[in-house]
Amino acid sequence: MIGGGYVGLVSGACFAEFGTDVAIVEQDPHKLDALLNGRIPIYEPGLDAIVSKNTETGRLTFGNDLAAAIANADAVFIAVGTPTRRGDGHADLSYVYAATREIAKAAKNSLLIVTKSTVPVGTGRQVAQILKDERPDIEFSVASNPEFLREGSAIDDFMRPDRVIIGIDNTSPEQADRATEIMRELYRPLYLIEAPIVFTDLETAELTKYAANAFLAMKVTFINEMADLCEKVGANIHDVAKGMGLDRRINRRFLHAGPGYGGSCFPKDTRALTAIAQDAGMRSRLVETTIEINEARKSQMAERIIAAAGGSVHSKKIGVLGLTFKPDTDDMREAASLPILTRLCDEGAHIQAFDPEGMDAARPLLPEVIDYRQDALSAAEDVDILVILTEWNAFRAIDPKRLRETMRGDIIIDLRNIWKPESFRAAGFKYSSIGRP
Ligand code: UDX
Repeated sequence: MIGGGYVGLVSGACFAEFGTDVAIVEQDPHKLDALLNGRIPIYEPGLDAIVSKNTETGRLTFGNDLAAAIANADAVFIAVGTPTRRGDGHADLSYVYAATREIAKAAKNSLLIVTKSTVPVGTGRQVAQILKDERPDIEFSVASNPEFLREGSAIDDFMRPDRVIIGIDNTSPEQADRATEIMRELYRPLYLIEAPIVFTDLETAELTKYAANAFLAMKVTFINEMADLCEKVGANIHDVAKGMGLDRRINRRFLHAGPGYGGSCFPKDTRALTAIAQDAGMRSRLVETTIEINEARKSQMAERIIAAAGGSVHSKKIGVLGLTFKPDTDDMREAASLPILTRLCDEGAHIQAFDPEGMDAARPLLPEVIDYRQDALSAAEDVDILVILTEWNAFRAIDPKRLRETMRGDIIIDLRNIWKPESFRAAGFKYSSIGRP
């Protein structure tokens, strides 16, 4: 497994748990040092346990020597980063291609190379070409096996997936058969639980990943738009979403209105998809519009808070619960809190914030003036306004009466709809949420 980041580490540990010997190659000395010393550099429930269990048995190892790691391998997974390239929205593939060249250089016998990173359509084909150019003496097979892991439930997503997508380079039938056989073997435990495994070609597998993420980003954006409409016409988004979602063709998941999607995947993958479409000579207007609406939404959320404060937040004390892009992660990438809190600080607000896992990651990304607190109630202490930005479960149990005594003001803006409006209004709050009367 080349790359011990989020995808590489979770996939590597889970393959080891499935019974395969896995060597994870990580170049970053800090990350590697952490892994070698039994520290998991990311927050992911359950990961710690499988990593330590499988390192103890020796099935999972870490190192920085790629040649040694692939010496006796049947398959090599590329799980390096593919950040958005500056300027054109494309995924930056330099790490993927560099890893490919290194693998080619070090390879001793025929090998299956699998891209696990989310890569644009055509990358698998390009990987195959590089391998051929660099080592015409070796028979490589190439596959694309995109991940569909959600942060916070990645282990479960890997162990009990809705589906596994495997694209195989079928240029040579012999190599394709070999690749199929190895991939089947790797995912064998999933056949037992009858998880659907879809075998297809490289380009289809690559596009499927983008299509799925873009669709989900669109679904969230759609429900956000309906929530805005609910506010205008006096309807309740909770029931609208429920009513829509009971239609099995729509499905209830991902219909939770909020401050706009963030994270390491949706923003990056939607941008990459529009770039792929443009390169192919067309536009993906639905996805382009989704991106635009979602970006705008984050600044609208700051406006909403300013309006609720009576038109200005200057010198106002604002308590903030939740900073990460979603709960059960310490990930701050493209979190709605970033533009919202930056704007509120620019407007002269004093922010007291608490997040159960994200504060270390948040500090360097947010204005320095933010005062980080050790728990939710302390973040609410003496504030004029309280804003909920991430729906951590721990916040659900907060007692409205106790909160009322803690705050000096009475305004709550719940951008994740975690609380019952009636209970908070009964406790004397001016409570507003998203799309609920
Ligand atoms: C996502 C995909 O779900 C996963 O399949 C893919 O492989 C990686 O990207 P992740 O980024 O971990 O996973 O988060 P996800 O749970 O999908 O949420 C993404 C964003 O959408 C979050 O900001 C979340 O708050 C938001 N969201 C999600 C909503 O606002 N409402 C919803 O109903 C669902």
